[in-house]
Amino acid sequence: MRAGAVFPGKRKVEIVSLDEPEITSPHEVKLRMLEVGVCGTDREICSFRHGTPPEGYEFLVLGHESVGEVVETGSGVSRVRPGDLAVPMVRHSCPDPGCVACRSGRQDFCYSGNFRERGIKQLHGFMTGFVVDDEHYIHPVPGELREVAVLVEPLTIAEKALIQINAIQRRLPWGSTSNPTDHRNRAVVLGAGPVGLLGAMALVNAGFETYVYSREEEQNPRSDVANAIGAKYVSSHATTIRQLASLAGNIDVVYEAAGASQTSFELLEALGTDGVFVLTGVPRHGEPISIDADRLAHNLVLKNQVILGTVNAGPDAFEAAIRDLGVFYRRWPDALRALITRRYPIERFCEPIFERSGIKNIIVLDGKSGC
Ligand code: BGC
Repeated sequence: MRAGAVFPGKRKVEIVSLDEPEITSPHEVKLRMLEVGVCGTDREICSFRHGTPPEGYEFLVLGHESVGEVVETGSGVSRVRPGDLAVPMVRHSCPDPGCVACRSGRQDFCYSGNFRERGIKQLHGFMTGFVVDDEHYIHPVPGELREVAVLVEPLTIAEKALIQINAIQRRLPWGSTSNPTDHRNRAVVLGAGPVGLLGAMALVNAGFETYVYSREEEQNPRSDVANAIGAKYVSSHATTIRQLASLAGNIDVVYEAAGASQTSFELLEALGTDGVFVLTGVPRHGEPISIDADRLAHNLVLKNQVILGTVNAGPDAFEAAIRDLGVFYRRWPDALRALITRRYPIERFCEPIFERSGIKNIIVLDGKSGC
């Protein structure tokens, strides 16, 4: 079978040929891959800044956002059956017996750093014909979500953030529904890429008055999605962060999905009382920036603020993402579909990686592409 792969040593990106994997233990599941999404991490890997092949290989098969169809299961598998649609998880546990996170099935909080990630770090990804994995890394998805299920993995980032925001805000004893002062929870999403827009959907759905702040002009396909779901798109060309803060009022949550440190720290100054600032983007290491640290520390203390970094996602976030994607699909079918700009056959997998355009581009692996 063919696969889209990167050779970090040779600095090239091309189609390779691989043997079809087989089930070798009772708890394994074989998936026929249907679609793989391309994201910023894939671009980083294909610019050779990131990404490690599995041991014994010169290349790494790409792809970590995906959906497949179960074609075969080991004798002990109970989570899925052949014919089911399923999304495999990205991160695999580390082998360290002392890593309490991985030993608890929460490799997204791995302490040792020896986790492996499909299509990113020491494990081949999903941009190929078939994949075999242990059932506890496989999440079944309702068949009616087929056309958008490839968005589950990028949505898990927001879901993991929301789970943590809810845990943190349990410190506020009045909760969000029985608030005696009728305080509306307000969120600002920084960045209008797929992670930002899916995050905005999750926040609107969770009842937040949501602003999406990004550098694109007011009228563009990204702002159309934001406005269609009932968020308010605010362009950084027309509105400064200070103006955004006075427009929004007390900002309870900032969901950063741009990987731009300068803007993030400017926005941190606008975080409201009792607010949580969530960073999900990984900035490229550049020149040091200057920040008003005294002022930020002052606000953090005097306004009970929390800064939270979050990466990857656990089983709870996958389940929440699958559930919420169904909700978004019923509530905003056109906006959700509009996140997917174009579908490419595997022969052309380099195009969406190198010629960045649209919102989310997908590689189709449904057999028509010859995989
Ligand atoms: C993926 C995560 C992964 C992270 C770091 C992201 O693009 O969505 O699952 O943990 O990259 O490698």
